[in-house]
Amino acid sequence: MEVTELKRKNKPQYGIGDASYQAAGGESGIRKLVDDFYDAMERLPEAEKIRNMHPKDLDMTRDKLARFLCGWLGGPKLYMEKYGSIRIPQAHSRFEIGSKERDAWLLCMDTALKNQPYTAEFKHYLMKQLYVPAERSRNRD
Ligand code: HEM
Repeated sequence: MEVTELKRKNKPQYGIGDASYQAAGGESGIRKLVDDFYDAMERLPEAEKIRNMHPKDLDMTRDKLARFLCGWLGGPKLYMEKYGSIRIPQAHSRFEIGSKERDAWLLCMDTALKNQPYTAEFKHYLMKQLYVPAERSRNRD
């Protein structure tokens, strides 16, 4: 077998089964990512507007996003277990989200990813995948 083919075969296939959930460090890794994400949102001037859309106390918001991402990455459906079903565009329809707000959200995620012990490849994959629900949450411009 060619070396390149061997490499390909041994790579985690993100998006298949729970490969992405495992690469993200399971539930504890995802909770850490989400904590860093909201910490970035509280700190970054570009995110001030989207921070202000959120409740003052972010405890439940952190729990919701972490649980959602566990299921979304192919792990246990923890959001569904606690909060029921969710559709991302509908969940955001009461907020004014244009491309600036979408990009601010993605910037917080990109900033949070810098602190995680993930491979560069997985970080890149995750940002690409997250663009999809972020774009679907946009409801203006
Ligand atoms: C595009 C930019 C986005 C903005 C400005 C935004 C903003 C918000 C706000 C203000 C809330 C309400 C928080 C609360 O009441 O606790 C929320 C909830 C939520 N967001 Fe986003 N969000 C964005 C993108 C995303 C993306 C891409 C995802 C998923 C990958 C996501 C997942 C969630 C979840 C799971 C909730 C909880 C919904 C609920 O249970 O009511 N959001 N978001």
